[in-house]
Amino acid sequence: VFTFDVVTGTVALRILRTDRNEVIDIVRNTYLTHDLGDTVNPDSYFLRFPERPEARIIALPAFVGDGVRRAGIKWIASYPANLDANAPRASAVIILNDYETGYPIACVEAAAISAARTAASAAIAATVLRPAGFDGTRISVIGAGVIARNICDYLLAAGCLPDSYVVHDIAAASGEALVEHIHGLGQSASFTPSLAEALDADTVVLATTAPKPYITAPFRQGQVVLNISLRDIAPDVVLAANNVLDDVEHCLKANTSPHLAEQASGARDFVTGTIAGLIKDDVRLARDRPTIFSPFGLGVLDLAVASHVHDTARAEGTAIEIPDFYGETRRW
Ligand SMILES: NC(=O)c1ccc[n+]([C@@H]2O[C@H](COP(=O)([O-])OP(=O)(O)OC[C@H]3O[C@@H](n4cnc5c(N)ncnc54)[C@H](O)[C@@H]3O)[C@@H](O)[C@H]2O)c1
Repeated sequence: VFTFDVVTGTVALRILRTDRNEVIDIVRNTYLTHDLGDTVNPDSYFLRFPERPEARIIALPAFVGDGVRRAGIKWIASYPANLDANAPRASAVIILNDYETGYPIACVEAAAISAARTAASAAIAATVLRPAGFDGTRISVIGAGVIARNICDYLLAAGCLPDSYVVHDIAAASGEALVEHIHGLGQSASFTPSLAEALDADTVVLATTAPKPYITAPFRQGQVVLNISLRDIAPDVVLAANNVLDDVEHCLKANTSPHLAEQASGARDFVTGTIAGLIKDDVRLARDRPTIFSPFGLGVLDLAVASHVHDTARAEGTAIEIPDFYGETRRW
């Protein structure tokens, strides 16, 4: 009962890469479990620093019922200055707790888990929003970092095969690195310094670190926008689109583009539905509008994927059990 494991990032990464479709299934099922109310996903808590306004560390506590029955918390830091040393911006751990006793049972390195669940969400939305597939279409990726790289991996795993990718980033070196990565996936890709060209693609993936909106021209009918970075799009552009969120309460917070749209319009009727509704085919999208998917990023997804990683690591013997982790295991 009193075991405590550490799962390293190297192990987590290998497990995640072994079967990306398994991760996609876990994320899809967790959205449906969340929709049924069999989860607890409180507000994220943001730790900020007066002398480092660009940095933050966020706590995402969560519980998933259904087949998972685990509680836990993701503790994820965002330090944009890490990029100067070519280190990832985000770093994270997830603590898993036993639901029966509350005891922490594992610490899992979670940067890859966080990226994987985010990318899986994007791939799920992409496949549901383009039921006819990606043949004859272009996907653009704006913002070429770790999340963008994972999204490209997951779009491929989900069978989204466009004719070509176009990549845009304010840092050309990052953009070129993503182009190389997409070539490595056997897909055609090119870099463009033109934001307008990138915004013209059939499917637009936003994965920047932009703090406030710079996309002010409306998208056109039929375009699909995967708004993963959440703060790129001006409120009017949001208001002119179909809007699919992961969780309405969560997404209309923290100055996301949908939150700004709610403030600008004074209402929530621009929200067309949720990704769970879309998966269940309960959401009717207006055909004459573009569709924007804005996922706030739910802790329940991290928890479900981390639980899978921990279970797999234990089963294959790669979870490192820490002997005598608990100092006291008897009350008296
Ligand atoms: N919604 C979710 O669930 C979720 C989950 C994880 C991360 N994210 C978000 O995804 C984003 C990307 O994360 P990452 O780890 O890949 O970051 P990163 O720092 O590795 O990469 C971001 C890239 O965006 C580029 N960029 C910044 N502003 C730009 C702009 N205006 N136009 C074009 N390019 C721009 C940067 O040059 C950089 O290459 C972050 O905003 C993060 O908060 C969202």
